[in-house]
Amino acid sequence: MNLMSKENTDRAEKSIEQINVVGVKVLEQNGINVEELVKALVYNASVEFAAYYYFTNLRMHCTGTEGESIKGIIEDARLEDLSHFESCLSRIYELGGRLPNDAEEFIRISGTEFLQLPSPDPTNLKEILEKCLKAEQGAIVNWNKVCNMTIGKDPATYDVAKDILREEIEHEAWFLEMLYKRPSAHIRRKYPGERPHTHKHSRSLDI
Ligand SMILES: [Fe+2]
Ligand SMILES: [Fe+2]
Repeated sequence: MNLMSKENTDRAEKSIEQINVVGVKVLEQNGINVEELVKALVYNASVEFAAYYYFTNLRMHCTGTEGESIKGIIEDARLEDLSHFESCLSRIYELGGRLPNDAEEFIRISGTEFLQLPSPDPTNLKEILEKCLKAEQGAIVNWNKVCNMTIGKDPATYDVAKDILREEIEHEAWFLEMLYKRPSAHIRRKYPGERPHTHKHSRSLDI
């Protein structure tokens, strides 16, 4: 990089930091720790992204006649996790955050290795369902935390977090029903990818 272009880059970086971002400033005035909030959102985004990947692989291993009905449930949950990843991206960048440049680091921070296939039998349906349930319960904790951080202070992020939380609670209920016969009300979506609560936050997934 020559001296001239380095000066231009420095100037551009400085000016980005110095830009008056009212959408962030008002949150700080409302008592939000923006850095902490961005950290929580990036972490949650990594969990949703990794869960989408792992659910895809787990679903492929739901074999046999019994596995067929479980495949449908995991499909609904998996596509909504992708919606959850998409849904929180705007807020990360609007708040001045960004995703890690290294995709491996992004997956690593999710801590979702427990979603790897059951061993020694990767088609053990009960174990697959238990893993899915654990993922949904973790997601509830994650999004409930963001709701608590933003309620009454950051309506834009709260709006996203509470809609994601609503779907995670439904996902938990589905897997509880599959595992323990605890009724979950409407177990199936009208169609895979319906995402009734988050579709407005993830319109990029609309075909
Ligand atoms: Fe999710
Ligand atoms: Fe979920």
